[in-house]
Amino acid sequence: MCGIVGYVGQEQASPILLDGLRRLEYRGYDSAGVAVYDGQGGIRVVKAKGRLQVLSDLTQEGTALPGTIGLGHTRWATHGEPSDVNSHPHMSQRGKFAVVHNGIIENYMELREFLENQGVTFASQTDTEVVAQLLEYCYNGDLMATVQKVLHRIRGAYALGILCRDQPDVLVAVRKDSPLILGLGEGFNLLASDVTALIRYTRDVVYMDDNEIALLSTAGVQVFDAYLQPVDKEPQRVDWEISAAEKGGYEHFMFKEIMEQPKAFRDTVFPRIVNNRVVLEDLSLTPEEVRDIDHIVIIACGSSYHVGMVSKYILEKLLRKPVEVALASEFRYSDPFVTERTLCIVISQSGETIDTLAAMREAKRLGAKVLAIVNVVGSTIAREADHVLYTWAGPEIAVATTKAYSTQLAVMYLVGLYFADLMGRIDSNTYDAIVCELLRIPSKMESILENKEHIQYFASIYFNHDSIFFIGRNIDYAIGLEGSLKLKEISYIHSEAYAAGELKHGTISLVEDGTLVVALASYGQLFEKLMSNVVEVKSRGADVLGLTTQRLKESMEKTVDATMAVPDTHPMLLPSLDVIPMQLFAYYVALMRGCDIDKPRNLAKSVTVE
Ligand code: M6R
Repeated sequence: MCGIVGYVGQEQASPILLDGLRRLEYRGYDSAGVAVYDGQGGIRVVKAKGRLQVLSDLTQEGTALPGTIGLGHTRWATHGEPSDVNSHPHMSQRGKFAVVHNGIIENYMELREFLENQGVTFASQTDTEVVAQLLEYCYNGDLMATVQKVLHRIRGAYALGILCRDQPDVLVAVRKDSPLILGLGEGFNLLASDVTALIRYTRDVVYMDDNEIALLSTAGVQVFDAYLQPVDKEPQRVDWEISAAEKGGYEHFMFKEIMEQPKAFRDTVFPRIVNNRVVLEDLSLTPEEVRDIDHIVIIACGSSYHVGMVSKYILEKLLRKPVEVALASEFRYSDPFVTERTLCIVISQSGETIDTLAAMREAKRLGAKVLAIVNVVGSTIAREADHVLYTWAGPEIAVATTKAYSTQLAVMYLVGLYFADLMGRIDSNTYDAIVCELLRIPSKMESILENKEHIQYFASIYFNHDSIFFIGRNIDYAIGLEGSLKLKEISYIHSEAYAAGELKHGTISLVEDGTLVVALASYGQLFEKLMSNVVEVKSRGADVLGLTTQRLKESMEKTVDATMAVPDTHPMLLPSLDVIPMQLFAYYVALMRGCDIDKPRNLAKSVTVE
């Protein structure tokens, strides 16, 4: 989604803004722009459709746009096509205000009509421009009072950065339902939609809350509530290294993050296993509260939802309690059935996905307890949930999630074991066996990654297929969902995942000569059933690539065209191994098709609009 960065200080603003925008590129964007106060009574704006390099060239790396205060933006189009004029920052008609915005102004049509009737001429088709025009229309010489007045008139979700020509020593930042972070420096201050844009300049940050307004100057930062009353905010220290958000010699962030999975898994799991027991010191649910849970609803989007799908099988088996998995975008509108004995587990890498956030708020409103599994520390979901468990994956930059998926799954295993133990649903032999295998997962992941050329070879055989089905049963089906999503989001090949038994109820009609079917068969008890489905698709002309375990490999090889095999482990933990060949396959296929792997078309890393 869109990215915001703002700077006020003594250095030249433009190069800092461009650097910040570069660090936000991963979020996905189609145009970019900067606005800088020129020191002579005017705000200069340069913006352009396309990659950041275009903006960089237009401004000669920022040197052609002098000034020490400014705003930058990368836009992911919602209202109005990607174009130079629709890019941010947006200026008010007489050049008094420059505005950058993430989110959506829902009542922009009525505001636009109102302003046009007052003689205001609009330059763009965006919802954002109404904010700039309304600020100028309402301006009475008091900047904060004007901002407050405008906020009363706009509806929707927004993070705003505002620069006013008449008060060129301050930036105003506003947040409602879209993240905004303030970076605190010595003699300078910053604002950004994502900590990655700030980390090169400062590690001391303030997370803005909804309906807060901040005033940034060289001297400091003040935060106010919606009534302009000062709010005391505790600065937080960001402790990850800047190198964690850099490629470090890898061609793509996605590949780097795939390779980082053993470490991410270790960092997430090992500190939480003490003397072979799962210890969740960071979980604030009491044992009594855990025992009281009678129903679990997992809520998430995209790959996080797929983690939920896998977890359903695991938790139901371990806890013998009903577990539902809900798409966040559906949950909130479905009149969901939850009670105070329901635990809603919300899964989100970014902690900012708007659908997940809204669903979580709805679950809380209905009285459910909410446990969030989140990667980004200090994100909105992490702050608003009743209980939080972090996935210590480190910053994930590639749009296609990999290490976040693996660590979310890891936390779900821990939650499953911990709850099962408290609920008295697991015998000690099973518990010990799973914990023992959990500690071996990272080295098994490493052995798959060491043999990645094997998967690269399969990708080189199959990368030209136009239609790919993933089939599996139970957990294998849930992993197939993730394999299919990985492939389609970065390679643009049409792909679907099916519960293998469902094929003959309709979808098998699409299978013909040359269709590729990836058949997942990791579980002995379902192996024969799955192989019958494989025979069905093969007899209709499909090429079949199998994914199984070392133990079942030989049996599978007899029927399929090619086989990938992962090391054997406890069945509950197999998804952590199975997903890696799926990720590598998608990566290599996309590479061979020449796709822009880290910035797939139309996609954004963090989806902050509904
Ligand atoms: O940050 P979240 O985990 O809430 O994001 C959810 C989805 O947008 C995300 O998993 C998306 O599906 C990924 N691009 C998949 O690779």
